[in-house]
Amino acid sequence: MFKIISAVGARPNFIKIASFMKAIRVHNEKYTDPGLKIDHILVHTGQHYDISMSRAFFKELDIPNPDINLEVGSGSHAEQIGNTMIAFEKVLRREKPDWVVVVGDVNATLACSVTAKKEGAKVCHIEAGLRSGDMSMPEEINRLVTDRLSDLLLTPDKLSSENLRKEGVAEKNMVFVGNIMIDALEANRDKEAVLNVENICSKNSLSGKNLKAKDKSQKTTSSGSQKGNFAVLTLHRPSNVDLLEILQPLITFLRTEVARDMPLIWPIHPRTEKRLKEFGLWGEVMKSQNFILLKPIGYHEMLRLNMEARLIFTDSGGLQEECTVLGTPCLTLRWNTERPVTLCEHGGTSVLVGNDVERIRAEYKKTLTSERKPMRPEFWDGHTAERCLKAILDYKNK
Ligand code: UD1
Repeated sequence: MFKIISAVGARPNFIKIASFMKAIRVHNEKYTDPGLKIDHILVHTGQHYDISMSRAFFKELDIPNPDINLEVGSGSHAEQIGNTMIAFEKVLRREKPDWVVVVGDVNATLACSVTAKKEGAKVCHIEAGLRSGDMSMPEEINRLVTDRLSDLLLTPDKLSSENLRKEGVAEKNMVFVGNIMIDALEANRDKEAVLNVENICSKNSLSGKNLKAKDKSQKTTSSGSQKGNFAVLTLHRPSNVDLLEILQPLITFLRTEVARDMPLIWPIHPRTEKRLKEFGLWGEVMKSQNFILLKPIGYHEMLRLNMEARLIFTDSGGLQEECTVLGTPCLTLRWNTERPVTLCEHGGTSVLVGNDVERIRAEYKKTLTSERKPMRPEFWDGHTAERCLKAILDYKNK
């Protein structure tokens, strides 16, 4: 029996591991010989723990309950990473896996890859090679360390493979597999298709507001594509939400200019809600005309909003990718991205606008006249998880 532990901690990890675990299930159904089966253990570090940030994703993506939950919870990065390492080391000593699979770039990714390597397990990183070049981003540190330690680096696009080559990673240690986030998107389109934007808002609304009748209707653009008359906002990066002097002008712009043109649907991350309350801005956003504040929403609900939105403002990495495949104009509230393949200059739909209101305004105005333009980078085809598993099995057999 070949043993793999997959380690996850935060919302985007759950989406990615769902597809990988499905690939393992399919593999195990195919082989009757126990020697060829994979013994898989799912470890949840507990970095995200609210029902809406964790359990809800397991449920709607059919991910089995984690076999082990380390329950590390919130804390400073050192606390989160340190506590994860201490708890994960015990798991590794008990379970002795052949491989540890980590995904993405969150604190759980770093903590589990370092611990696994020290315990002598092989490490596979799904979503390797992304680089923003911005060392003030905790995720960039997580990516660099994880990739440096990994035995097998699975990249989502060719630019990421190129980054690894420049860093001296040997060809035998990397495989271009495509984007596993898009596996989930492709596998769930039918579930999203039956959702209704108005219901999503009423079910999750924090302020009791919803779209008005005129905004519910779909608009047909000159190219014949359909889009709803609302914008979506997601905001959670410390660089955007932790400083009043950054957050306040952003909110003022969105409230006084965007929400004047169309309703703005805003599923709020717990970190952002906390900051808005600390800064005394919560009351203002709750009562703002045309601001529809939602609690954190599920995977299908978010994709449904993405499919219908006229545009998205976001600082999330995964949303830049989903917007690219769905064709949704995406104003990325960051100065850099580790996902350049999603930028307009590479054929995607995302524009980097940072957090400078002048720049955001200028790009927003351009976006108002732009059309949906779906684009699919190579291997963003819904079959990445199978390629990930094959790469691990091929490595083993080398
Ligand atoms: C983490 C990831 C980020 C990813 C994001 C997705 C790191 C360094 N960052 O950021 O890359 O884009 O997840 O959402 O790993 N909180 C709750 N309930 C929860 C989880 C968090 O209330 O279930 C609150 C806590 O106050 C916590 C704060 O949100 O301190 C931040 O959570 P944390 O996991 O540290 O980072 P995220 O901002 O979610």
